[in-house]
Amino acid sequence: LRASFAPRAEKQAQNFENRLQPRASTFKVAVLGAAGGIGQPLALLIKMSPLVSALHLYDVANVKGVATDLSHCNTPSEVLEFTGPSELSNCLKGVDVVVIPAGVPRKPGMTRDDLFNINANIVKTLVEAVADNCPDAFIHIISNPVNSTVPIAAEILKQKGVYNPKKLFGVTTLDVVRANTFVAQKKNLRLIDVDVPVVGGHAGITILPLLSKTRPAANFTGQEIEELTVRIQNAGTEVVEAKAGEGSATLSMAYAAARFVESSLRALDGDTDVYECSFVQSELTELPFFASRIKLGKNGVEAVISSDVQGLTEYEAKALEALKPELKSSIEKGVAFAQKQA
Ligand code: NAI
Repeated sequence: LRASFAPRAEKQAQNFENRLQPRASTFKVAVLGAAGGIGQPLALLIKMSPLVSALHLYDVANVKGVATDLSHCNTPSEVLEFTGPSELSNCLKGVDVVVIPAGVPRKPGMTRDDLFNINANIVKTLVEAVADNCPDAFIHIISNPVNSTVPIAAEILKQKGVYNPKKLFGVTTLDVVRANTFVAQKKNLRLIDVDVPVVGGHAGITILPLLSKTRPAANFTGQEIEELTVRIQNAGTEVVEAKAGEGSATLSMAYAAARFVESSLRALDGDTDVYECSFVQSELTELPFFASRIKLGKNGVEAVISSDVQGLTEYEAKALEALKPELKSSIEKGVAFAQKQA
């Protein structure tokens, strides 16, 4: 994906064609919530991947049209549709990567935590089915609040006896995508070159962009750091307000999720140089889950990059301490929900 968004037009066209060439090894990907605002553009972007042989689209309604429409694209993967709980098992059998954007999005005035009651139950039901049908798959959780839905998923997988912490991911790629975009704009850098690690969690102040670790190295004034940090933390709300009641980020989220899927597939395909930020089980801090850069391999998380949280600036160190109580309580809320249902 990154290559196909290279700045020069002719390069873009060339990469686009290259991307459509079938590859030796290919994988099956399922999207649960595929008829939604994120699900549809995400399915389209995954349909473009040469690493995918089958794309399984599941939703409780309206997925047949999405699948039929997508199936007419002349890219290698086969598209299959699955509607309603009775077809969920078949959707998941033999799948390598499961992406979960099912649930309700925010409206103006709502926090991600306001979504807890509805989305917690949806994630629980879907992850139970994943545990029963494809326990070895990489699981990408997009449904908010990610700070709680990932711990819920972990507990459900534990209850089913199939929890593999290396294969459960909270998708925080959008925070990185936003940080890269805003920093490149502010500093007049080439977008394609910029990489800002974002750590912590995926809500408000728990989102901590580490601007001091921006690559290529860039200098920021105190005011720029404050403005960029706050903008990255509130970028989701920027979209929620601009859409004025019509939902939250869908297109940029689909782009970010597709990037994370592509990275996972490259890792599964044997690429040994794949790094992304993600909210995963972690020993980087005293919290049981934490977002940071990770190295992805065939078996999932191969390494958590600890250097990200070392040598922080005073601003970052303070912000890290400040986010911990909120992140801890969101994690505990998720764990308590799942344990109460057991
Ligand atoms: P949407 O309402 O447009 O789509 C959600 C889809 O989920 C609908 O098609 C709906 O039918 C489906 N769905 C509901 N219950 C289901 C179930 N039990 N099984 C399968 N599918 C079910 O919402 P949108 O905008 O696509 O957002 C989806 C989720 O993604 C929300 O929770 C939102 O907060 C979250 N999100 C996460 C982001 C992140 O960075 N991780 C960024 C933006 C949104």
